[in-house]
Amino acid sequence: MEKILDGKALAQKLNNELKSEIDQLYKISKIKPKLATILVGEDPASQVYINIKRKVCVEVGIESIFIKHPATIDKDDLIASIRDLNHDNSIHGILLQIPLPVHLKPYIPSFINQISPIKDVDGLHPINKGKLFDYNEEYAPCTPKGIIALLEHYNVNLKGKFTVIMNRSNLVGKPLIFLLLKRNATVAVCHTSTINIANLTKMADILIVAVGKPHFISKDKIKRGAILIDVGVSRVNGKLCGDVNFDDVYEKCGMITPNPGGIGPLTVSFLMRNTLIAYQNQVISNSIKE
Ligand SMILES: NC(=O)c1ccc[n+]([C@@H]2O[C@H](COP(=O)([O-])OP(=O)(O)OC[C@H]3O[C@@H](n4cnc5c(N)ncnc54)[C@H](OP(=O)(O)O)[C@@H]3O)[C@@H](O)[C@H]2O)c1
Repeated sequence: MEKILDGKALAQKLNNELKSEIDQLYKISKIKPKLATILVGEDPASQVYINIKRKVCVEVGIESIFIKHPATIDKDDLIASIRDLNHDNSIHGILLQIPLPVHLKPYIPSFINQISPIKDVDGLHPINKGKLFDYNEEYAPCTPKGIIALLEHYNVNLKGKFTVIMNRSNLVGKPLIFLLLKRNATVAVCHTSTINIANLTKMADILIVAVGKPHFISKDKIKRGAILIDVGVSRVNGKLCGDVNFDDVYEKCGMITPNPGGIGPLTVSFLMRNTLIAYQNQVISNSIKE
């Protein structure tokens, strides 16, 4: 059994498959999928993510545009920008890059609500969240989709497994609950108010950590043989680092994602997949009808 869950290699395989599918669909429609990313201000971490997304878009054959706004943009102008993209038929996916400047943070739900659900490649619109509640994962967020794809690729049977998620955000923890329940896992969710977290993590057959705290999980917090999925991203002395102390837990765990090289590349790959899904729903269904 392989111990390292190689997200980077799986993402490359999935990206190659996406490229062939997109080439095939282009032959039918003569239209390429197109993703628009809205950027507000100059957040340095966002610049890094954007460059990665731009590169993978080129690799799989998705056109990408970046709508840049100054950090001083007001709420109404940002909403108008989202609406313009909703009405632009050449755009199939819309992504609002987070974080936003402080004065816009309270309005994030209002901005997301403005994105047309069919173009909502981050899977955050209330309609798409509601569909996930019913186990319809078509527009589920990219990171949870990537985590499930990795576990399934390595034939991890989720049925009945006690799975602990350390995160309850809309992008990671909450959607994961539904993807895991759909596959008959037993799910517990931890957050900053959870008491005696280690008692729970030590029971986990599968532990998914996304707290953004470098090396938060050490061997004393896991069960022998546990499967560890390390989602968190931090920088320590300029170097990327995850939430799991890899060297410390390696001998005790059953399987583990490297970080970097685990969930990050899969998140980008599933952003491409969600853009393709959005494009198929807008372009290909129409081409077939015509
Ligand atoms: N690799 C990827 O592709 C990818 C994708 C998405 C996110 N990430 C990374 O994953 C991390 C989380 O991202 P996010 O957007 O979900 O962040 P977030 O909204 O800040 O969520 C962090 C979650 O961790 C919980 N938490 C923080 N410290 C904790 C502690 N000491 N004990 C237990 N729970 C704790 C928080 O609990 P409360 O709810 O109580 O605050 C919250 O639910 C970040 O490092 C981010 O960079 C990576």
